[in-house]
Amino acid sequence: MADVWYVGVDQVPESLAVLLNGHDRARRRRIVREADRSRFLAAWVLARIVLGERLDRDPAALEFDRTCRHCGDRSHGKPVVGTAGAGLDFSVSHTGGLAVVAVSDRPVGVDVEDTTAGAQPPAAALTERERETCPGYAGFARLWTRKEAVLKAAGKGLAVHPGRIELRGTTLLALPEELGRPEDYALFDLPLPAPYVGALAVLGPGPSPSVRNGADRVGDAARVRPV
Ligand SMILES: CC(C)(COP(=O)(O)OP(=O)(O)OC[C@H]1O[C@@H](n2cnc3c(N)ncnc32)[C@H](O)[C@@H]1OP(=O)(O)O)[C@@H](O)C(=O)NCCC(=O)NCCS
Repeated sequence: MADVWYVGVDQVPESLAVLLNGHDRARRRRIVREADRSRFLAAWVLARIVLGERLDRDPAALEFDRTCRHCGDRSHGKPVVGTAGAGLDFSVSHTGGLAVVAVSDRPVGVDVEDTTAGAQPPAAALTERERETCPGYAGFARLWTRKEAVLKAAGKGLAVHPGRIELRGTTLLALPEELGRPEDYALFDLPLPAPYVGALAVLGPGPSPSVRNGADRVGDAARVRPV
């Protein structure tokens, strides 16, 4: 079972930066654009709140390991909760004005895109068959989130080229061997506020995820920890 939480970036006050630890703050300081710094704050405040609730821990005390499963570098891999989070996986995604966090007792990956972004799709991200069946940026964004969710569930990220995954809707038709077998994954589109689309991938069978707005949780945390 997976829980997905989302929050508007502008609903997370700066005062909640007190929840971040020294490592988070140092990462945030290195982010050049202010909009990206705000997205980072929203995503990691939400992640700490929902993980703290699930683990019955102080959100500010959680530690994360970011060792890359591809090259072993300790700074840029899929984050996992330290010893307090044994048996729990989570995934973070942020774009435009939205931050999303998925939590599950199975390996999980979430990805969101803004359908109004209209960026040029990365070369060869879609197979020829997929390009024919999903015209326009919104169609591309939908497919892209499904592929990236799978890559994030596997902990690989874009170290594996998304063009090596083939989909029909949320059904995986082909998967590179290093990601396992298509039938190992459950893939869901997420009901998110427009103009955002998102997808969730979970390793193993399971019911549809619950998808909730985390604004109340964030509001509660801001009241408990005033500046
Ligand atoms: C991580 C990645 C998938 C992000 O995609 P994106 O659409 O730009 O951003 P999203 O907002 O959806 O996701 C970002 C979050 O994914 C998480 N993440 C990072 N690496 C990840 C991985 N390998 N697997 C799953 N999640 C990962 C992080 O929590 C990150 O948030 P943060 O930077 O605030 O900590 C992509 O940038 C990537 O794969 N980068 C690494 C590429 C790589 O591994 N190269 C080879 C290294 S040896």
